[in-house]
Amino acid sequence: MSKITDIYIVGDNADLSATLKEQTDESFQLHFLTAADLKKADAQLILILNNGETAIDDAQTALSEHPSSSIICVSDEENFSLLRSLNQLGITDFYVLPGEELIFMERLDAVAKEAGIKNELESESSFKRGGGKIFAFYSGSGGTGKSIISTTFAQTLKLESTAKVLFIDLNLHYGGAETFLGMDSSRSIIDLLPVMEELGEHHIRNVSEKEEHSDLNVLVSPRDAELSEKITEDFIVKLLRASKRHYDFIVVDLPVWMDERTLAVLEEAHRIYYLMNLDTVAIRVLKSVENLFQRLGVITQDRFEFVINYKAKENELTKKDLERFASYPVASEIRKDRKNVQAYVNQGEPLRKKSQEKKLPPFSKDIHKWVHSMLK
Ligand SMILES: Nc1ncnc2c1ncn2[C@@H]1O[C@H](COP(=O)(O)OP(=O)(O)OP(=O)(O)O)[C@@H](O)[C@H]1O
Ligand SMILES: [Mg+2]
Repeated sequence: MSKITDIYIVGDNADLSATLKEQTDESFQLHFLTAADLKKADAQLILILNNGETAIDDAQTALSEHPSSSIICVSDEENFSLLRSLNQLGITDFYVLPGEELIFMERLDAVAKEAGIKNELESESSFKRGGGKIFAFYSGSGGTGKSIISTTFAQTLKLESTAKVLFIDLNLHYGGAETFLGMDSSRSIIDLLPVMEELGEHHIRNVSEKEEHSDLNVLVSPRDAELSEKITEDFIVKLLRASKRHYDFIVVDLPVWMDERTLAVLEEAHRIYYLMNLDTVAIRVLKSVENLFQRLGVITQDRFEFVINYKAKENELTKKDLERFASYPVASEIRKDRKNVQAYVNQGEPLRKKSQEKKLPPFSKDIHKWVHSMLK
């Protein structure tokens, strides 16, 4: 839990200022400023010093400039009319120093903690709303589950939250996502080319297909080598930036091969989920991907995470072995679940269709757990 440590102090009162400096230790940073400067500060915890003149005006400024801040008034004498006026403004914390140091410090600490919790909640809910987070699914090896896991991940995210989710299939030559989502599409990303300079939400919405169970927006690949060549790195960057403005989460399924388009997504992504099998071949491929990333300048710090797939007893390596070879965090471990996954794929059905489904197959359950831990 993070406590607020910055205290903004208005009101000229040398004695009270000195007492405050004495009372508060290094755990707080005191910023003395004028009421006019309060406007510019990002103040969440404000102390008003009574100097017999400006306290009410200062309190009004603090309230109007920072309506969600916590405000405490400190005075060097009892003053009932001031206390009453503050009360009318809704400010009920009033302490007289010297004299009430103990309860004042206790209260200051409590208020700082409350403000800290409020901050955390706000940043969490803004993460929930996404603010355009791009999750790229990548791997240096083919058939590691990028497409089926990224589609099920996007589908789960859409079904289990109120977030706006867009899925982009960038396997430009072959596609694949629509098979796992059981969709048949006549439109594709190519249809956005003519409007790439003015790309807005309505364009994306018109060209994307809606998965019928979740209403997930899906931008399908053209599945035509010739058409695919028309999609440039510049277009990809424009598409991702526009998507970020209108969606909370953008899930991108990438092909194995590295070209400037794949690279553009890897650079724009907030998180790269790297699909990993627990065997030595996968480790070797990972090492060459790391080399390639380094040469291309793709930053992995704080955004590269493993997704272990085909987890099973018979795996050649364990998660512990993997951690010995590489230090990236493991976002999720997904069990090998041939029977169920095969059945859904063969029937052309998505692995998730409803929110809060009870009896999920192991594969979908593992992805469900992962998505929930992210949304928490
Ligand atoms: N955990 C799992 N359990 C059972 N089957 C799985 C699992 N993960 C993936 N599969 C199966 O493996 C096959 C390959 O998966 P997928 O197409 O998603 O891989 P990919 O990494 O996207 O491949 P490519 O490199 O060709 O794009 C699919 O048919 C899928 O059904
Ligand atoms: Mg694929």
